[in-house]
Amino acid sequence: MIQQTTTHVLYGQTLSFKSDPFHTPWGEAVQIEQHGAVVIENGHITAVGPANTIDVPENARPTDYGDCLIMAGFVDAHMHYPQTAIIASWGKRLIDWLNSYTFPEEIRFSDPAYAAEIANLYFDLALSHGTTTSVSYATIHPESVDAYFSEAQKRGLRALTGKTCMDRNAPDALCDTAQSAYDDSKALLQKWHEVDRLGYVITPRFSPTSTPEQLEALGALWAEYPDCLMQTHLSEQVEEINWVRGLFPKARDYLDTYEQFGLLGTRGLYGHAIHLEPRERDRLRETGAALIHCPTSNTFIGSGLFDMSALKADGHRVGLATDTGGGSSFSMLRTMAAAYEISQLKGVALHPAQLLWLATCGSAQSLLLGHKIGNLAPGMEADLVILDLASTPEISQRANRAEGFWDTVFPTIMMGDDRAVRNVWVKGQLTV
Ligand code: GUN
Ligand code: ZN
Repeated sequence: MIQQTTTHVLYGQTLSFKSDPFHTPWGEAVQIEQHGAVVIENGHITAVGPANTIDVPENARPTDYGDCLIMAGFVDAHMHYPQTAIIASWGKRLIDWLNSYTFPEEIRFSDPAYAAEIANLYFDLALSHGTTTSVSYATIHPESVDAYFSEAQKRGLRALTGKTCMDRNAPDALCDTAQSAYDDSKALLQKWHEVDRLGYVITPRFSPTSTPEQLEALGALWAEYPDCLMQTHLSEQVEEINWVRGLFPKARDYLDTYEQFGLLGTRGLYGHAIHLEPRERDRLRETGAALIHCPTSNTFIGSGLFDMSALKADGHRVGLATDTGGGSSFSMLRTMAAAYEISQLKGVALHPAQLLWLATCGSAQSLLLGHKIGNLAPGMEADLVILDLASTPEISQRANRAEGFWDTVFPTIMMGDDRAVRNVWVKGQLTV
């Protein structure tokens, strides 16, 4: 039997976070080593530091990445793997986009073979873009959850998903009931949650497609399994918010349609959260809920401008995500660029340290997994991306003119894509 090497040392520029660069000056929040090294043993990072001072085990197998940047793999905190094949579908706003493109495609996931094919394709695409953890919506079909988790498990990935629950305002073929949503979610949770690196996420799609009875049932399930995450959509588009108001006339606001059924909490992930009322902002902050910013989706579907700097200054927890296929890219580099552009439209230039933090630590912390993934530090799981900071002629010529580290990295954030991804390591194994 061939013995797999489990001890590695990677040389290159290393980037680690010591704290949140929205709350500490980035010079203090980030540790950069121009000639750095990362030691990996048995799937975990055991040392990070300057190459000339670090203790390297004798049996470590070296890989020299030169000037490439070694950092934590990207964490995509909100996406829909079943929408892989309909990404970049033209011309609709949210509700019409769901009805025209999304729902017809999601119906196909009743076929386990199709679900397996798209799950395989999705993870190939995510990994080639440097994303090592994804939090996905599945479809209403339990088979779609099995397909995603089976594929992630085969690849040794840390991955999260849940059966999307809908019992109204969707095609019959995509509707469950309050009871079956509860039963199926519970069975899937018991089957997959915390198996290997997998995590189950209780998933009411959004309040327009769930009856109060279904939201209540899923709130009860979350109360039974409080260590699970719960994900949903919140205040993405103005038309959607008006629809919610009509469907839940007694609710104080959109968030209340979740809150009154026990679906608000620290382990809750609220996708988009653009058009928030003051009460909603306060309650989300008080409960420590996580807001997931999906910038390429928000421009693509025409949803609006997320208020990143104000929300972070208020103390909200925020993660970053592609929201494929409402989002227009699998790339977290492209997603950081869109977050930068949206913040510019709100009058604030996010620093590259803040963008990189959002795509790694910030997203990991939003999943309450910041102690396991999202950073280069001893004890963390060794999910890494190696970025070539001169991956195309346009980026290379700009990087040649750079003054200092951040000026070298920023062109890759703004113009980079999967060509910038030199390698990806998953749990200490070279994967891409
Ligand atoms: N709101 C409810 N479902 C969806 C979805 O699939 N994508 C987006 N962007 N928003 C949603
Ligand atoms: Zn979404």
